[in-house]
Amino acid sequence: MTVKVKFLPDNVTVEAEIGEPLLVVAERGNVFIPTGCLMGSCHACEVELEDGTPICACISAVPANTKELTINLYSDPVW
Ligand code: FES
Repeated sequence: MTVKVKFLPDNVTVEAEIGEPLLVVAERGNVFIPTGCLMGSCHACEVELEDGTPICACISAVPANTKELTINLYSDPVW
């Protein structure tokens, strides 16, 4: 079972395994997510799920209960 992970705004879709770390999935698609602590505390790696929920990519993995996951890279609110 694979999950299609779509990264916005670049609109890059990467096939991922359930439980794979999001940073690894992003890297495979050549999508750059900035990181800092890699421990879930600095929020440098923060991205948003489709419903706007912010998550820290460094401590997040591909969930089992979905076929498709949309990840919004942090975007400039002024833009
Ligand atoms: S890199 Fe610091 S919270 Fe993810």
